[in-house]
Amino acid sequence: MFIYFFTKEKCLDLLKLEIKIRLPEFKLSFGHKGFVTYKVPEKFDENFFETFSPFFAYTWGKTFKEPIDSGLIRFELNKNVVFYGEDRNHFHEKFNLFQVYDETLPADCPSRAYLKLKDAQKFFTLDFCSNESILEWGCAPGGMSFFLLNQNLKVTGVDAGLMSDKILAHDEFSFYQMSVHDFLPKTQQTTFDYLISDLNLPPKDVIDLILNALEIIQIKKMILVHLKCNGEKDLKAICNISKKFSNYQINRQMLPSHGRETLITLNPI
Ligand SMILES: C[S@@+](CC[C@H](N)C(=O)[O-])C[C@H]1O[C@@H](n2cnc3c(N)ncnc32)[C@H](O)[C@@H]1O
Repeated sequence: MFIYFFTKEKCLDLLKLEIKIRLPEFKLSFGHKGFVTYKVPEKFDENFFETFSPFFAYTWGKTFKEPIDSGLIRFELNKNVVFYGEDRNHFHEKFNLFQVYDETLPADCPSRAYLKLKDAQKFFTLDFCSNESILEWGCAPGGMSFFLLNQNLKVTGVDAGLMSDKILAHDEFSFYQMSVHDFLPKTQQTTFDYLISDLNLPPKDVIDLILNALEIIQIKKMILVHLKCNGEKDLKAICNISKKFSNYQINRQMLPSHGRETLITLNPI
């Protein structure tokens, strides 16, 4: 049996590194552009398909080398969708359709980070309710804040950089122009519904900051963390995240609007 992954071409090296770290016994079988397959070892725990979830793939699943009667090859997309293709190229075509991404930014939006939350809403259940409170780390210049404020949320933004004037003028936005390290000991508000982090710091630093923050503040519904990956050290920190947040249900998804990064959501259990 084989497993396949679809990823972004620019993240293929990260996916291969991730598999090397997390599944060293799997042998690379075939790779082309954003599609890659691995041979699964003979003796292998079937629970794997219930529990494994890659950080740097859009989707993944089982694929069987043997053609079925019709001569088509059977692919299973995440167990729920079975796809029959003539060959791998057919699969690539399907994948390319997958990759069409035509989201556009609203004209007056301060940054493309807006799209990361729009995508996140598609992949995760983000059931924001009016007036919920968001603590947003790395909010400047304000694309994500723009998205959140349009959903009638109350946003507390923290960033050392400059925020767009349009966002600063919004009644439901409070801005702390400082580093997150300085903000934490100063904050008066200690309970938020969500924490959203989009800091361009190494994953290990972001994870440590969140762990420190959780000693001071309480996040009631969900933590969303966008983590950028610049190589093996960062990837290892990302792969270790479940050990650090054992009291949380963890989900992950690489988003179409992401560069070399992944989104992790943490829900208190
Ligand atoms: C990818 S940008 C954020 C884009 C933003 N989310 C938006 O919607 O426009 C990363 C931000 O992290 C901020 N940042 C990095 N380290 C920080 C720190 N220690 N404290 C506060 N902000 C930090 C940078 O100033 C930068 O604005």
